[in-house]
Amino acid sequence: MDVNGKTVLITGSTDGVGRYVAGELAKQGAHVLIHGRDAGRARALADEIKSRGHTAPTFYQADLSSLAGARGLADKVAADQKRIDVLVNNAGIGSQNYGPQRQESADGHELRFAVNYLAGFLLAYRLLPMIKAAAPSRIVNVASLGQHPIDFDDVMITKNYSGSRAYAQSKLSQIMFTVDLAEELKGTGVTVNSLHPATYMNTTMVRAGGITPMSTVEQGGAAILHLVQGDDVAGRSGLFFNGMNEMKANAQAYDASARKKLRELSLKLTGLAG
Ligand SMILES: NC(=O)c1ccc[n+]([C@@H]2O[C@H](COP(=O)([O-])OP(=O)(O)OC[C@H]3O[C@@H](n4cnc5c(N)ncnc54)[C@H](OP(=O)(O)O)[C@@H]3O)[C@@H](O)[C@H]2O)c1
Repeated sequence: MDVNGKTVLITGSTDGVGRYVAGELAKQGAHVLIHGRDAGRARALADEIKSRGHTAPTFYQADLSSLAGARGLADKVAADQKRIDVLVNNAGIGSQNYGPQRQESADGHELRFAVNYLAGFLLAYRLLPMIKAAAPSRIVNVASLGQHPIDFDDVMITKNYSGSRAYAQSKLSQIMFTVDLAEELKGTGVTVNSLHPATYMNTTMVRAGGITPMSTVEQGGAAILHLVQGDDVAGRSGLFFNGMNEMKANAQAYDASARKKLRELSLKLTGLAG
């Protein structure tokens, strides 16, 4: 896909791999909508993009640890923009950001489930009319190889909590959403795919986990850009990639009854039901 003149929203693009992807798409002439919580970091990225002579990005500040924040982001983007050609749900927190203990969002949901999954679910649905109107268009969900099945009796992980389980549950939720949404979007010209960008890129979330980085944002960014614009994935949907290679995700992603449960819960929690 030639992204020149296209509008691409990348959540979590004030840092890490999202920041790299935003810069690369701007370089190719896209109007990038950058997002994060920190206005200073956004300004630094915008200045960098403009100083290279590329189209100035538009910054949206929103905290996705509340559903009101996610809703506000969607409403602001919908009010300002005429089209969304690509949505990259990339914002996220790792297993150890803010410490090893269980944490909750402003709405009382387990924090990783809320930020990494529910916010992107809400954002995608609120922006879907615009994304459909721009078809052929794409949604890319930045997930992970770290995947833990959802226990539907304790989705908010009130028992046996660990940061890595919470992170992995949120990432499998994104993949289940991808498979589910792809089915719903058949015939609309909108595709949705998910991926593990690269293992332990040198980013804030990896460093916050005390992990020694093993790869770069350039490597993970190339895998995200592949799903954003690769011709070989045009028209293909509901897939999971490990880097550049298509692979199967955790079995729960292909369990239609589990996906239905997750969808119903997510519609209820986000207030989108009905
Ligand atoms: N790093 C890896 O090795 C790796 C591996 C597999 C998958 N991933 C996935 O790749 C994506 C990007 O990760 P990264 O490593 O680039 O992380 P990162 O450097 O820590 O960047 C995370 C981004 O998400 C934003 N963010 C975090 N919490 C937010 C919140 N509550 N509200 C709004 N924005 C928020 C941050 O914004 P602020 O600037 O406001 O903090 C930042 O822009 C994540 O979905 C992650 O799960 C990463």
